[in-house]
Amino acid sequence: MNRSFKTLMGMRILGWGTALPEKVVTNHDLEQTLDTSDAWIVERSGIRERRIGDSTAELAIEAGRHALERADIDPASVDLLVLATTTPDQTVPATSAHVHDALGLGGGAFDLNAACSGFVYGLVVANSMLGAGNHRILVIGAETLSRITDWNDRNTAVLFGDGGGALLLESVGDEGQLLAWDLGIDGSARTCLKTEVGGKIEMDGREVFKRAVRAMVDSATRTIERAKIRPNEIALIVPHQANIRIIQAACDRLGIDRERAAIVLDRTGNTSSASIPLAFADAIDAGRLRDGDRVLLTGFGAGMTWGSALLRWQTPPSPNEREASTRQAGGSNG
Ligand code: COA
Repeated sequence: MNRSFKTLMGMRILGWGTALPEKVVTNHDLEQTLDTSDAWIVERSGIRERRIGDSTAELAIEAGRHALERADIDPASVDLLVLATTTPDQTVPATSAHVHDALGLGGGAFDLNAACSGFVYGLVVANSMLGAGNHRILVIGAETLSRITDWNDRNTAVLFGDGGGALLLESVGDEGQLLAWDLGIDGSARTCLKTEVGGKIEMDGREVFKRAVRAMVDSATRTIERAKIRPNEIALIVPHQANIRIIQAACDRLGIDRERAAIVLDRTGNTSSASIPLAFADAIDAGRLRDGDRVLLTGFGAGMTWGSALLRWQTPPSPNEREASTRQAGGSNG
């Protein structure tokens, strides 16, 4: 099946935003309560510190607000909110209800749980919903993994953190910026990383590591092939931020220079569905992208899920340019 988009309605990115709690917890802080060391954590994972605190809604609201402000649009003109999270603030209603209300968005809202692949799943769903007639969609990944982390378990406590990231998307009358994608799941591996209702994260680290590299490489390869490009044409790879060794192994197998990877995990730890938008925004803000660059988002997570999306980067239009192009197309504006 060819999952490249050849529709007449695609997406463009209008804005992006991030949120991190104020409280920094360093590896040295963890040395005080766990039988671990900064050297072990850095060597085995690449993580040096993580941020802890806030609720999932608070982080999502802050990230979403930054994305809306950057694009300078009326929040009521947003037709849909997709909130990827594996740590909702309550079971019912969805955390997106709180976020939708606080941001003053229009249209509908729902939560999406595809674990650490959640943001890529959200992006692909949003792209389809733009094709179905929505004009603007806010996609957010936000997590408070600290609430489901067992702080006495050194196998997991050193890896996770809290955060949020958002992209604001708008429909355009051509193929748009999402060139190809791949989503998948192997539910037979659902027990190697799990959290029971009311429980804490349980993980078979070695098994997850092995499967993660394979899942990311296979999914990224399918996506690159669907876009009909070569790996060396990818200017930036934005991998899920779980472990620097997983990222390096995946880059090496894909034939993508390690230097082309966006990395924030040294400062954030693994923030699940927030990790890809956090790393993407960091790379954009650092000026790492030029118009026309190919960007590969790729991740894996509990389930085990995986997801990849190949984008063509384009600097968002200014509000004036946007208005002119919308008038030309005869569409609505907000
Ligand atoms: N500090 C010090 N020692 C630790 C430790 C810690 N925080 N955690 C585990 N160890 C010990 C283990 O007990 C083991 O000791 P042993 O050899 O005496 O049994 C030793 O370090 C090696 O453990 P191992 O599990 O083989 O380490 P590893 O190189 O596989 O690294 C992970 C462990 C968890 C960092 C790595 O497996 C990983 O990142 N897995 C993927 C996890 C992931 O990405 N999860 C999220 C998916 S979205």
